[in-house]
Amino acid sequence: MASITIRNLDDEVKDLLRRLAAENDRSMEEQARVMIRAAVEGQLGPVGRIDQIEKTLRELTGSHGPATPVAAVSSQIPRGTLSGKRILLIVGGGIAAYKALDLIRRLRERDAAVRVVMTAAAQEFVTTLSVGALSADHVFTDLFDRNDEHDVGHIRLSREADLVVVAPATADLMAKLANGHANDLASTVLIATDKPVLMAPAMNPKMWSHPATRRNRATLQKDGVAFVGPAKGEMAESNEAGEGRMAEPLEIVAAIGALLDISPKPLAGRKIIVTSGPTHEPIDPVRYIANRSSGKQGHAIAAALARLGADVRLVSGPVGIADPAGVTTQHVETANEMKDAVERLLPADAAVFVAAVADWRSETSAGEKIKKVAGEGPPALRMVENPDILAGVGHHRKRPGLVVGFAAETQDLVRNAEAKLAKKGADFIVANDVSHEGGVMGGDRNKVRIVSKSGVDEWPEMSKDEVATRLAALIAKRLKTVVV
Ligand SMILES: Cc1cc2nc3c(=O)[nH]c(=O)nc-3n(C[C@H](O)[C@H](O)[C@H](O)COP(=O)(O)O)c2cc1C
Repeated sequence: MASITIRNLDDEVKDLLRRLAAENDRSMEEQARVMIRAAVEGQLGPVGRIDQIEKTLRELTGSHGPATPVAAVSSQIPRGTLSGKRILLIVGGGIAAYKALDLIRRLRERDAAVRVVMTAAAQEFVTTLSVGALSADHVFTDLFDRNDEHDVGHIRLSREADLVVVAPATADLMAKLANGHANDLASTVLIATDKPVLMAPAMNPKMWSHPATRRNRATLQKDGVAFVGPAKGEMAESNEAGEGRMAEPLEIVAAIGALLDISPKPLAGRKIIVTSGPTHEPIDPVRYIANRSSGKQGHAIAAALARLGADVRLVSGPVGIADPAGVTTQHVETANEMKDAVERLLPADAAVFVAAVADWRSETSAGEKIKKVAGEGPPALRMVENPDILAGVGHHRKRPGLVVGFAAETQDLVRNAEAKLAKKGADFIVANDVSHEGGVMGGDRNKVRIVSKSGVDEWPEMSKDEVATRLAALIAKRLKTVVV
């Protein structure tokens, strides 16, 4: 019987195999068997692009996958895109140190300049010779090396970079930085740097879940250190499996790309209004009419548009989540306040109405708390209609070039969205089913259809962040053709 040598597979296939194996707690050989079985049973369809195969395999295994699929990383951070960027890589002493070699290669392929610091323990796993050959630079190992300290010095080393990456980040390195230790070159550089730090932890699952490591991670996150991984999977050194595997080199590259914000900015110079969250319509000073909207989808869209360079003005109803980074946020309570805030922000290039605005409000709001009086029964609430903010802007004389509405429906999703499209003067409606079983309201995932004059485009279920990224890309594409 023939056997497959995984080492001989294409890099892209090998990466996919490694990632899916880790996610599904399988060995790479077992994952290869699953993939071959799926291919033989015709479940993969005709042999196509690797990202299609990855998607199908995820659907078959029910795995949501990592934040950034392998094929997506290759296309998002193609070769050359880290040109001019300087990465200071600190390699800690763990089994995953061998992956640091591949990480250096991946970074250099993308034209980054990579300088490496190795801890004493790291040198037990990989040699300075291999690291130096791959990084094409001197490898720094000793805080008290007279030549290094004279030529570069630990302070310069820590500053002459755009980003400091620790991969693998050992439990020990995390503990040192969390507690401010500086007793070797790596820890001294980490505490002396004024640049962002990204850690890719790798350790045994028991070490990762130890309260001390969890405490250190929380402290580091609070101090602004970014993390990528670890993933679940088999440990290289034992038969144990669990959370603790270092993120794959391409995932680390994606995280580096995100932190250095190298993405293209097709929405630079565009002003976009986004509404998000519920509205609260008061009945008296303590009671109000509300809905289950969490603001997660609207806030994610605002953040995704900002990542593409837009000047985003978010008008948010009362939510329990943080304001998105890079966005100007204004907080309102009621539908009327939201309408006024939106109108004050006009003109704009686009407006995206994600907020679940209450359709009705109580005609009056009592100045004092309404008392429960024995024998009188509940107070009669007379409801009046709230302004329709989407329709108001869709037909406004200062109408933005692109108007996008959201339709949260529990029945007749597409028919209702199509009716809304015409009535509200929107360019497209993002229709989502918010019936209780779907868990969309308040949840982290969403399944939407894009309804426009040209038809209905059904998107697969994905995280709200993925919906936001995809919608922002669609808006960028549409705005290219809109003359304002
Ligand atoms: C075979 C072997 C594998 C190890 N793997 C890891 C690991 O994956 N993660 C980790 O945090 N520590 C690991 N350690 C322990 C570290 O090497 C040890 O804590 C060391 O002091 C870390 O030093 P550094 O943080 O300066 O690199 C391993 C030790 C040995 C002997």
